[in-house]
Amino acid sequence: YGVPGTNQERTFIACKPDAVQRGLVGAIIARFETRGYKLVGLKMVWPTKEMAETHYKDLAKKPFFPGLVEFFSSGPIVCMCWEGKDVIRQGRQMLGETQPLASKPGSIRGDYSIDLGRNICHGSDSPEGAEHELKMWFPEGVNDWGKTIDAWVYE
Ligand code: TYD
Repeated sequence: YGVPGTNQERTFIACKPDAVQRGLVGAIIARFETRGYKLVGLKMVWPTKEMAETHYKDLAKKPFFPGLVEFFSSGPIVCMCWEGKDVIRQGRQMLGETQPLASKPGSIRGDYSIDLGRNICHGSDSPEGAEHELKMWFPEGVNDWGKTIDAWVYE
């Protein structure tokens, strides 16, 4: 599940049900792909309520938790594993702030979303979070393929 601090660091990024409904999957993938990151896992999953609860278990006591679980299990999501240098932190920056209205133009949420509960994407917030989420969403593992243009991305 990656080696944090190296070019093989990995993170879990998801296009939430609103991104799938709105046709934003390609745009979100393109941000990571054109930046130079390597896509090593990709699949569509319609989360059950239980999967949504497990994914957001740290937020179980929050008042917005029931609505969040309802939303996250309301349709298919696109699960991705992206690999590359500093991808966990860079991924969060590329997503923008949790609150879309506080997200800068140029970030994914700042460019494509308005409301907190419809912020279109998810990204792991730490190495521990990434490992936990990748294990949950990709129990079968991901793809260790050799990206032949890496010499043009990394010095
Ligand atoms: P959180 O893990 O705090 O943010 P992030 O997705 O940026 O890691 O919250 C998870 C999701 O819960 C968030 O993306 C949107 C939703 N949410 C609400 O609906 N209301 C809220 O008040 C908060 C803080 C989050």
